[in-house]
Parts: sequence; structure tokens; C-alpha cells
Amino acid sequence: MSADTSKKCVVLGVTGGIAAYKACEILRLLQKQGIDVYVVMTRNACSFVSPLTFETLSGHPVAVDTFERPATWEVEHIALAKRADLFLIAPATANIIAKMACGIADDMLSTTVLATRAPVMIAPAMNTGMWDNPATQQNLRTLESRGVQIVAPATGYLACGDSGAGKLEDVSVIAQRAIDALFAVQDLKGLRVMVTAGPTREPIDPVRYISNRSSGKMGYAIARAAKRRGADVTLLTGPVSLQPPAGVTTVSFTTTRDLLERALEYADAQDILIQSAAPADYRAKTIADQKIKKQGGEDFVLEMIENPDVAATLGKAKRADQIFVGFAAETQHVAEHAKGKLEKKNLDMIVANDVTAAGAGFDVDTNIVTLMTREDSRQLPLMSKDEVADRILDRIQELRMQKTNA
Ligand code: CTP
Repeated sequence: MSADTSKKCVVLGVTGGIAAYKACEILRLLQKQGIDVYVVMTRNACSFVSPLTFETLSGHPVAVDTFERPATWEVEHIALAKRADLFLIAPATANIIAKMACGIADDMLSTTVLATRAPVMIAPAMNTGMWDNPATQQNLRTLESRGVQIVAPATGYLACGDSGAGKLEDVSVIAQRAIDALFAVQDLKGLRVMVTAGPTREPIDPVRYISNRSSGKMGYAIARAAKRRGADVTLLTGPVSLQPPAGVTTVSFTTTRDLLERALEYADAQDILIQSAAPADYRAKTIADQKIKKQGGEDFVLEMIENPDVAATLGKAKRADQIFVGFAAETQHVAEHAKGKLEKKNLDMIVANDVTAAGAGFDVDTNIVTLMTREDSRQLPLMSKDEVADRILDRIQELRMQKTNA
């Protein structure tokens, strides 16, 4: 954590959860980097930690529910909203998340965060049931699509006695994410990045299709990170239940051949191509016009034919100045298979992962990957897909640098 942070200001919103005391540590970690921290607390947060604690630590008055002071609150919340270089809410309860998603402004914190034009980051912490509730998940997706950065909670033993997702992420991780956001490098500014994400669907008849377990989360995380780093992003997406990141051109595909068509349309204009979609290798040889009926006890055999390899086609057409990255989701002999695909598809890098490993693979928020290039192989530890996305982009930047210097 080292950077010239002398003039930066974080407004730290603290909401009413048992993890509220951890906000003191986040405040200290930010201060250690010379960041000025102003605290806004909800009324409930004051039941967990006294405003005096934050006042003493921050060296500034703590804004609580200043409707009690009608003469000043109007000015005060706008002043704080304007002062922020980053608005961080940690811990963020399900309640503040819901209010933010709806644009409700009924206390000092919700009013201030609604008024701010600064980047907003939230670190949720709550009971697992509340976290899993579709309402909360929907609200998070809404916020994410508006550009709010989310430090996903960890999984562990919660204060309520439950075990599961909802535990406030480690304070040092939150502080680091805040620092990274404050000093967000726009190192991809001026670059065009195409990311493909999600599964394909290959129809069999009017009501059935063949698909796979890809959730699109990894590709969406890359699109989000590339956008944050200043790139002009085109996201080609299969059918997924994710909200596309704000400010990204989104193009949908259904089948592998659809994806190929769209990818060829956009590829030439790109500086960086990232093929994280999971296209089906085969499709039904014929698609029935009508719903296929039961075969009266006989086996049903579906004849399938091979789909085009999108990555290999793009790899063939790739220009020398473009960086092309593919993925390899394997269940065995990961390194060997991935290396083979790197060569065969003319990729500059392949992101290999063993989808059977705990914390990796489909529909989880974390991944364990190895970044393989022709020159080396770098295994990354278990990390969030957001972090993996940034590491992939960092490595791409190194490769680009090497190409320009070559
Ligand atoms: N890929 C593609 N078109 C296909 C199949 C795969 O573009 N028809 C891409 C994937 O998006 C990924 C890379 O190729 O970036 C590797 O995909 P993977 O499914 O691991 O490998 P396959 O080439 O399909 O080989 P196999 O299924 O035999 O492992």
C-alpha cells in the first residue's frame, strides 16, 4: 500500500451491523496512507460503535442523522458528497444496499451517497440468509450495473451463529481495494477490448437446447475491470443472468455460430480480444421443426456435428499488434491441455483452471487460475473473479509492452 495519497479524501459510511467496529481499522489503514477520512454513520451504527470513536480517530466531526440539526444538514451532506474522492460504505447492510438501489434518501448516509459524484464502493456484511435473498442479490446487480464497486463478503462463521457468505471481507483487503480505486490507473485508456462471456445454447427443437454451466461471471468481471481501467469495451454475451457493466457495448449471442459471426464482426477493430465464453463444441445436426416426442420406449439418439472453433478462427485472423487471450477450463492434465490450446488457437495467453478445484469454476465468485504464455506460467492463488480479472489485464499489459519493445 504505497502511493502519494496526500490529498485524497474518503468518506466512510458505517451502517449498523456487528462488523461496524471493523470500520475503525479500515479508517486507520486508510489514514496510514495519508488519506483524509470523514465518517458518516447511520443511527443504527451508533448502537454498535460510538460516533466519538470515529470522531477521535478521524479528527473530524462525525455526521450521523443530522435531521436533528436542520440548519446545517442540507449543506453538510452536499459538502461531504463533494469532498469525497471515494465513497466507501463498510460494513454495508442489506438495508443501505436496498436504499441505494432504489435511490432512497432518508437519512444522512443515504442522502449523502445519493448526492455524491465520486466513485462508490461497498463492502457488504450481513446474515447469510439476507445475503442470499434474491432481493439483495438483485439490488447488488443493480448497483454493480451503475458502476458501484462491490467488495464481496467472505464466507465463514458469522456473529449470528450461521456459517456461510456474508462475513465482512478482511479489512486490509477492503482498504487496499479503496486505495486501488482512489488511484485507479486508466492504463487501458484509448484501447479497444472485446470480451466474450457465458455459455451458448444449441437448439434441438423449438423447446429444447444443449448448453453448459458457464455463468459468465469471469467474462463480466473482465469487462468491468477493463472499463474501469479506461478501455472502450465490447462485451459479447451469451444467455446469462448478469447485469452488463455500465458504459460497455453489449452484444448478445445464442449459438456458437452466432458468437463466431459477432466476434468476426468486432474483432478487427480491437486491440485486445478475450475469449472467455464457453461455446458448445457440437450442435444438433438437424433442428426439429416440432417438439420431439417420446420414442415409445426406444432409445433416442441425437446426431451432432462439430461447431466451428471461434478462438481458432480468431487466432488465425489475429494481427501482430493484437493480444488474444483464451481460457481453458479443464478437469485433468490442466497445464498440458492448456498449453496445447495456446498453440493450436494462436493465443498470446491462456487462462487455465481446474474447474473441479474448490473455489474455482462455474457460478462461484472466486477462481484459481494459471496465466500461461509462451514464456512462462504463473499460478495465482484463490482470489475473487474481480481480482483475477485485474491480474489478467496486468499480464496483458506486460505482453503489450513486450510486443512494442520487440
Ligand atoms: N473455444 C472456442 N470455440 C469453440 C470451443 C472453444 O472459441 N468451439 C474457445 C473457448 O472460449 C476457450 C478456448 O477455446 O477460450 C478453450 O476452450 P475449451 O472448451 O477449454 O477447449 P476446446 O477447444 O473446446 O477443447 P476440448 O473441449 O477438447 O477441451
